[in-house]
Amino acid sequence: MKCAILLWCLSVACSKGFNVFESDDIISTVNNAQTTWTAGHNFHHVSKEYIKRLLGHRKREGKSVLPLKTSLDTSGEAIPASFDARDKWPNCEALRTVRDQGDCGSCWAVAAAATLTDRFCIATNGSFNSYLSPEDVLSCCTSCGDGCDGGFDDQAWLYFNKVGIVTGGHYGSKIGCQPYKLKPCEHHTTGQRPPCPSYGDPPTPKCYKRCTNKKYKTSFLLDKHMTSSSYIVTSKVEEIQKEIIAHGPVEAGFTVYGDFLTYKSGVYQHITGDIEGGHAVKIIGWGVENNTKYWLVANSWNSDWGDNGFFKIRLGVDECGFESEVSAGIPLVN
Ligand SMILES: *[C@@H]1O[C@H](CO)[C@@H](O)[C@H](O)[C@H]1NC(C)=O
Ligand SMILES: *[C@@H]1O[C@H](CO)[C@@H](O)[C@H](O)[C@H]1NC(C)=O
Repeated sequence: MKCAILLWCLSVACSKGFNVFESDDIISTVNNAQTTWTAGHNFHHVSKEYIKRLLGHRKREGKSVLPLKTSLDTSGEAIPASFDARDKWPNCEALRTVRDQGDCGSCWAVAAAATLTDRFCIATNGSFNSYLSPEDVLSCCTSCGDGCDGGFDDQAWLYFNKVGIVTGGHYGSKIGCQPYKLKPCEHHTTGQRPPCPSYGDPPTPKCYKRCTNKKYKTSFLLDKHMTSSSYIVTSKVEEIQKEIIAHGPVEAGFTVYGDFLTYKSGVYQHITGDIEGGHAVKIIGWGVENNTKYWLVANSWNSDWGDNGFFKIRLGVDECGFESEVSAGIPLVN
């Protein structure tokens, strides 16, 4: 099992060599291919080790720790051709927010916390309008994996079900019990944030079983938000769509090839580049662009990456495994 994890993560820990990710060839290949998307510079000229560490989603091996949800949302409602959770639930600000995992392979935790945040807002019709803390699950969930060096999405959802997750906003926000401790940074595109270091591994933040935000009034234990159930969604497109319509966004894990890093706009599909690792993100809807069906997705590399922090990826073909590792849960609301 360890071996497979290592293979999946490729040379994150093993390679000592200093390989640089040069994206010029990838960008020209994609842009000359007359495909459904446009490439540009993100992550240009940074070390491959840095990129691999950022890609902290670990692929499940064999059976998930979560049950498979079989179709229960059998409302007769037809599935629309396009759907955007931001339009359906306009009073949930978190849906329009792009998170930043910083210089850490915490995508698995950030995407899970962001997904559950939206679901709490949706389930309470906006009464819950705060943020759940990736910090909590990243640093305190020992069965989830290795913090900033990668983890499993389904274990994060199991943690929400068994232990719960406290609130916590963005870095420096003073929102909630445990605001995120890792600084936002530019993932090698031009913008106003400081650049992410191109190598060097900030450690996983320490686990605190108390609120690190002194201004926050609720106690750590009372602030825990839980799911009444956490589960895997089948890889059938309609099942994923019904799940989103009924309860809000879901988390998806997928394989990242070099070309994904250069995404700027359009509907992504793999054209060129090697496997760089695994990544976890939040699906917020779907649609059709120039006859190509896509999933609409929020990434966690801040709003300067890609299409204002979001991207579209081809739907219905399990592009890069996108439809085969979907997890979610139902918020436990009093
Ligand atoms: C949900 O909240 C909105 C905005 O506050 C309100 O207009 C609407 O009536 C609420 N819906 C329900 C079902 O309570
Ligand atoms: C759709 O295709 C046309 C023709 O290839 C292209 O000019 C246009 O930019 C595409 N639209 C989008 C949103 O990608």
